[in-house]
Amino acid sequence: MATDHPQSAPGTAAAAAPGRAHGTRPRVLSGIQPTAGSFHLGNYLGAVRQWVALQESHDAFYMVVDLHAITVPQDPAELRANTRLAASQLLAAGLDPDRCTLFVQSHVPEHAQLAWVMNCLTGFGEASRMTQFKDKSAKQGADRTSVGLFTYPILQVADILLYQADQVPVGEDQRQHVELTRDLAERFNGRFGRTFTLPAAYIVRETAKIYDLQDPAAKMSKSAATPKGVISLLDDPRATAKKIRGAVTDTDTVIRFDRETKPGVSNLLTIYSTLTKEPVADIERKYEGKGYGALKTDLSEIVVDFVTPFRERTQEYLDDPETLDGILAKGAEKARAIAAETLERTYERVGFLTAKH
Ligand code: TRP
Repeated sequence: MATDHPQSAPGTAAAAAPGRAHGTRPRVLSGIQPTAGSFHLGNYLGAVRQWVALQESHDAFYMVVDLHAITVPQDPAELRANTRLAASQLLAAGLDPDRCTLFVQSHVPEHAQLAWVMNCLTGFGEASRMTQFKDKSAKQGADRTSVGLFTYPILQVADILLYQADQVPVGEDQRQHVELTRDLAERFNGRFGRTFTLPAAYIVRETAKIYDLQDPAAKMSKSAATPKGVISLLDDPRATAKKIRGAVTDTDTVIRFDRETKPGVSNLLTIYSTLTKEPVADIERKYEGKGYGALKTDLSEIVVDFVTPFRERTQEYLDDPETLDGILAKGAEKARAIAAETLERTYERVGFLTAKH
């Protein structure tokens, strides 16, 4: 997988960290908020597909971050439904509970517990410099911004440090939060003795970025101006085919990858290439002398062939919540074994009196 951090940063070998046997595969951890409803193709090709690949080579932990979701108001019934929906889609996309640990953040109480310790280690000014918080709070206004949103990055720090993760697959917008994680881990280790692994961000390169079909200058996002530009994986496949046929291209008719002058066509080529694994150059050659219509027709078919089974598998999990909840319970149990060990060690280092049971 193309990233700018193929290996973990030097000096982060985690053999001595709690919960880690010597010589195990590098550990990755990531989270997704249960607020999106249907995943869109950008989520899938940019992040989820990478999560699926990493479970083959890494000791992978993935969670649905419901604690993060309530940093902005959520309807309780919707939050619960969206948590199951997110987990179902992750499983439908190919996460295998036998090869990774998939769980719901609130099922592991150590996240909130470690976050408190990390809150107390973070400077107010330091937290105030988090750009995502600044953007979000500016949009909402101070009165509607919760203190939870302010400490959101610190909860994320706790998520990562609890598992001694080596690498954190995230989008570019999360790089600062991973940097904060490294800073706080170093600060804690310096003050209390080596306790936490320093993680590295694992960021997908530009080539895996998917843009809006109607506005190829903008990333595909659920907050797009029009749903016509967004391929929602759980939509009716016929609607999806229509969106691809209606995608914005440009006035010449040459099928060539060029982000600068031909962003619409380039985006279609990226989608084509990532779903079929054919190199872009081969696709360009295949469509030499053909128009955009041919490319769009074929791409619609490729995308429909992808979303159709994805929708079916997602629906199977949603129709069987007992099985789904069972998978999540097992995941939480595996996660908790590690998280509890890290938390216990942290509490001891901080100077809390050991609780006798
Ligand atoms: N903040 C991340 C996002 O919005 C989600 C997240 C929460 C996360 N905890 C995490 C990602 C831990 C990586 C690791 O995308």
